[in-house]
Amino acid sequence: MKEKIKNLFIEQFSVEPLIFRSPGRVNILGEHTDYNEGFVLPAAIDKYIYIAISKRTDNEVNLYAADFNEQFSTDINNIQRSSTQWANYILGVVDQLQKKGFTLTGFNAVVDGDVPIGAGLSSSAAVECASIFALNHVFDLGLSKMDMTLMAQKAEHTYAGVNCGIMDQFASMFGKAGHAIKLDCRSLEYEYVPLKLDGYKIVLLNTNVKHNLASSEYNIRRQQCESGVSLVNKHQPGVKSLRDVTLNMLRQYVEPVDPLTYQRCKYVVEENNRLIEACKDLQQGNIKSLGEKMFRTHNGLSYFYQVSCRELDFLVAYVSNLPYVAGARMMGGGFGGCTINLVEENKVDELISNISKVYEQEMKLPLTAYMAVTGNGSEYCN
Ligand code: GLA
Repeated sequence: MKEKIKNLFIEQFSVEPLIFRSPGRVNILGEHTDYNEGFVLPAAIDKYIYIAISKRTDNEVNLYAADFNEQFSTDINNIQRSSTQWANYILGVVDQLQKKGFTLTGFNAVVDGDVPIGAGLSSSAAVECASIFALNHVFDLGLSKMDMTLMAQKAEHTYAGVNCGIMDQFASMFGKAGHAIKLDCRSLEYEYVPLKLDGYKIVLLNTNVKHNLASSEYNIRRQQCESGVSLVNKHQPGVKSLRDVTLNMLRQYVEPVDPLTYQRCKYVVEENNRLIEACKDLQQGNIKSLGEKMFRTHNGLSYFYQVSCRELDFLVAYVSNLPYVAGARMMGGGFGGCTINLVEENKVDELISNISKVYEQEMKLPLTAYMAVTGNGSEYCN
């Protein structure tokens, strides 16, 4: 991939680039908890977005996305949101840098990678992180990884229009091979948890349903959580987010007033509790117990948070009857994308071959399977 992007860059711009990359991510547990100041447990994977880049002496910004075979050009002094979605991830990051007061010249960049797009593996966060990491390096801006993570998230809010939490950008920036990251999304304190799966593999099954609904519904879920918090806050002024809320508070103050909001919030509060327990499972090497929690998370996301879809539910229901699958659930924002499955190593091929046939028959869509191997976060890679 590195050689390919380098050659593409030289073809386009006739100079040698610097090359950087940022990974996609999986999330073991802790879904829709990040924007509620809760906990998440993501891991970077060995699929990356690469960016090849060189500074220019004038103000031209020339971008090329290899995946779409598309070019985009603009002036560094006229950065604005565009109708070209892939360019927005880079432009959004440039905008953040300019808002921080950095003066940039023009630059050339080529983007390529093997993070599947629209599969819920955070290809967009990987583009944002790779871009800001690269710009920080070539313009010598001196930003820390934490600064860059927060700015990449802001770029998603402002230029991609998704009011996302911090999980994806954090995992893409800070990932560490062999580990998941237990991240407290309130304090941003984090801990690397060894991902010892003891004979199990992480298998991703992509529904191939593009999660178009995701951004509008995502923003609605976020509002529903906020309205739950404000219902509780009327009685308990110390409560600032669902992190501070207990199931009892929800039963008392939210359920009688707004049953739908109650369901949304209940899922989030339970998921936070589940994650703390899941980390103990991982420490103790109790993969069965971790897996059961993943199934429970899926039920919560499907019935109470309502961000699943028919295809995701089908995949999870199918594996829930198999003794060699410890756990499975939908992963990421929802409404499509992948399920994450913990599968006994020697049964992986059998599972993929069987489930692909049934899925294609029943859902009239192809199924794509990936093995998720952990990888490192954003890095320079010439
Ligand atoms: C998307 C968002 C994340 C997170 C997940 C759901 O991936 O970008 O911030 O909220 O959905 O857990």
